[in-house]
Amino acid sequence: MKREIGMDTKELLYENWPGQFDTFSHMEFACAIPQVLFLISTVKSNGKPNLCFHSWSSFGGDAGGYFAVMQNVSHLSHTYQNIVREGEFCVNFVSADYYPNCIATVMDNGVNDDEFAAGNFTPEKAMTVKVPRVAQSFLTLECELACNVDLSRQGLNSMIIGRVRHVAAAEEYIAGVDKRFGKEGFMYNIHEPADYATGQLADTHLASLELRGRYADWKDKPFGQ
Ligand SMILES: Cc1cc2nc3c(=O)[nH]c(=O)nc-3n(C[C@H](O)[C@H](O)[C@H](O)COP(=O)(O)O)c2cc1C
Repeated sequence: MKREIGMDTKELLYENWPGQFDTFSHMEFACAIPQVLFLISTVKSNGKPNLCFHSWSSFGGDAGGYFAVMQNVSHLSHTYQNIVREGEFCVNFVSADYYPNCIATVMDNGVNDDEFAAGNFTPEKAMTVKVPRVAQSFLTLECELACNVDLSRQGLNSMIIGRVRHVAAAEEYIAGVDKRFGKEGFMYNIHEPADYATGQLADTHLASLELRGRYADWKDKPFGQ
């Protein structure tokens, strides 16, 4: 049996804090689709470097370019203001070992804070943008602002799309595949998945990938039933 979830089923779930389903769609918790985590680096209007721990996103493109699509960038964040003002940002992927450092940048994110210092991250000069990269990042995308759309028209968030100008990848990560797609590679956010039996939202979890084998090993296996 399948649970059918519409816009009116949020009454079946308990918020963990008042207003949670105004800030986020209840469907986010119903779906709980894992989202890759990264740090967006920008520069504040006073020149201080800014970092934002970010989850909702996807990446793709074609011969005309490669794009970082960040569905929910809060209008309240410095990051949103910095991207709109400067037209540039970097997407920096770090491993789960740096999760506490990333959280520290959320805690110390005042306008006068150097958020690289707050998270014990090292700034590194980028090749094509003025904003600094995170030296500890195993993969950085240097981006220019391509698109800014308020999808829900609530004035809360924008979908920011960055055209990737340049990629920096750590050599020890691009040799082979294991390091990028295991515990030392991309980390994922599992955001308070809903349990529809009780109506409660579970804790947020951190996840990483486990490789299940090559395409060639899988394509001829018996069909799933
Ligand atoms: C695990 C995690 C994921 C987050 N993902 C996002 C996100 O996708 N979009 C967003 O606007 N804020 C997200 N945030 C909140 C921002 O990191 C937070 O508001 C940050 O302090 C904004 O920094 P800034 O004001 O310096 O830009 C996330 C926070 C955490 C802890």
